[in-house]
Amino acid sequence: MSTVIKGGTVVTAGDTFPADVLIEGEQIVALGQGLSGDKVLDASGAYVIPGGIDVHTHLDMPFGGTVSSDDFFTGQRAAAFGGTTMHIDFSIQPKGASLRETLDIWQAKATGKAVIDYGFHVAITDLSEALLEEMAHCAEYGVTSVKLFMAYKGALQVDDMTLFRAMQQAAKHKLLIMVHAENGDAIDVLIKDALAADQLAPKYHALTRPPELEAEATARAVRLAEVSGAPLYVVHLTNAGALEAVRLARARGGAGHIFAETCTQYFFFTKDDLAREGFEGAKWVCSPPFREKHDQVALWQGVADNSLQAVSTDHCPFWFDGGKDGRTAGKELGKASFAQIPNGCPGIEERLMLLYTHGVRTGKLSLNRWVELCSTNPARLFGCYPQKGAVAPGSDADLVIWDPEAKRTLSAATQHQRTDYTLYEGWEVVGAPRTVLSRGQVLVDNGEWKGEAGAGRFVHRRPFGL
Ligand code: URP
Ligand code: ZN
Ligand code: ZN
Repeated sequence: MSTVIKGGTVVTAGDTFPADVLIEGEQIVALGQGLSGDKVLDASGAYVIPGGIDVHTHLDMPFGGTVSSDDFFTGQRAAAFGGTTMHIDFSIQPKGASLRETLDIWQAKATGKAVIDYGFHVAITDLSEALLEEMAHCAEYGVTSVKLFMAYKGALQVDDMTLFRAMQQAAKHKLLIMVHAENGDAIDVLIKDALAADQLAPKYHALTRPPELEAEATARAVRLAEVSGAPLYVVHLTNAGALEAVRLARARGGAGHIFAETCTQYFFFTKDDLAREGFEGAKWVCSPPFREKHDQVALWQGVADNSLQAVSTDHCPFWFDGGKDGRTAGKELGKASFAQIPNGCPGIEERLMLLYTHGVRTGKLSLNRWVELCSTNPARLFGCYPQKGAVAPGSDADLVIWDPEAKRTLSAATQHQRTDYTLYEGWEVVGAPRTVLSRGQVLVDNGEWKGEAGAGRFVHRRPFGL
C-alpha cells in the first residue's frame, strides 16, 4: 500500500522545495512532481517536515516522591498531536541494577503502550566496576547515550570521580555523555539555609539554584569531557553563563564533540513566574530553574548561531492538584516547602508550535533551522539519522504536514498531555500539524486521533559519530 503526500513544500534542515512525497509501507521511496499512490494526503498550502524528535523526556518516571503523570501512551499521543514522532526517554538506574535491568524496566513501561518510535538513554546513578564494564555493551543494546546528574544530592547525583570514569569509558566505546549540569553540593547548602530561614515558598526553588552554579557545573563537565575524550551533550541549558562555557569549548576546538540543548520553556519564562500568587508558582518548578529576560535573549542567540544544537522539552509533567481521583501525587506535595515540590514541567506537545510561532514567524529562526533544531540535529547527534530526522528516500516516513496558518489556543482543557495545567494557558499559536504520520501510518489527522497503542517501536541507535 502506497501513500502520496501531494502539493506541499518539503522543508528539511538544508532545503525548501515543492515536492510530492511517495511512501511505500513504512518508508519514503521518492520525492518529485506528479507522484501518485493508493492513498492521497493533501499538503497544499502546507509544509512537509520530518517529524519532531524530542531527546529529553521523562514518561512514567519515579521522581520527587511520586511518578510523572504521563505514561508511554498518553505522553506519546500528546507528542504526536504536537508533531513529534520520536522521543528518547531517560531510563534511570535503580541503585544496584545493571544497565540491562534498567533498560528492561523502561522497556516494560513502553511495551504495548507506545504509539510513536522511541529510544532510551541510560542514566547511571551507581557506578560499580561491573557497570563500567557493561558500558561496553551499550551499543549492542542500541542505547548509545549515557546520562549523569551533577545535582539532586542524595538521590540521582554522582560525584566527579564517577562522572569522569564514566566519561573515560564512554570515550572508549563511542557513547555520548549527557549531563544535568548544576552544582548539587552547593545547591544542597543553599536549600538547607533557606529552610532554616523559613523561606518555604516556590520562588525559593529558583533562588537556591542560582545560574552561577549551572555555569560552574557546565564548565566543569566540559573540562572533564575534554580531558577524558568523551563527547558531551549538556541537557536543559538555561542561562548566558552556562552558554558561554559551551561556546568557549566549541571555539577552542570542541565543535565536533561538545554539544548542548536548551528546552522550549526557557525561552519564555523567568524566575518571577515562580513568585506567582499563592502556590501557583509551583507549576513552574523545574531544574535548572527559570532565569532572567537577558538569559532568554542569550538562548535565542545560541540557537541561531549554533552554540546550541537542539531544543528539547524535558517533558516531566506532574499534576498541580494530584493525589486524588486516580491522579498520581503532584505539585501539592510541596505546599509546605518548595523543597518537596516535584521538579518538572509538561511540554512534549507544544514544542514545535511554540518555536514556529515565536521563532520562525518572528524571524529569529529560519524554517530550516527550526527543522534542524527540533528533528535533524537530534537524529544526527543520537545515532539515528537518516532513518529519522530526514525527508528523503530510504528514511522512515515519520512526517508532519504542517499548516503554517493554523491557529490554536493552548490550554489545559484541550491539551493531550495528562496533567491539569499547561505553562502556556491561553497562549495563541499560529502554525500547527494538520496530519502526522509515523512510519507511513497516520496518527493524527485534522485534530483526530488515528493511532494505535503498541505500534511504536524501539529505535536501536548507532554509537556516537558512526
Ligand atoms: O525539573 C526537571 N527538569 N525534572 C526532570 C528531571 C531533570 O532534571 O531533567
Ligand atoms: Zn535534569
Ligand atoms: Zn530532564
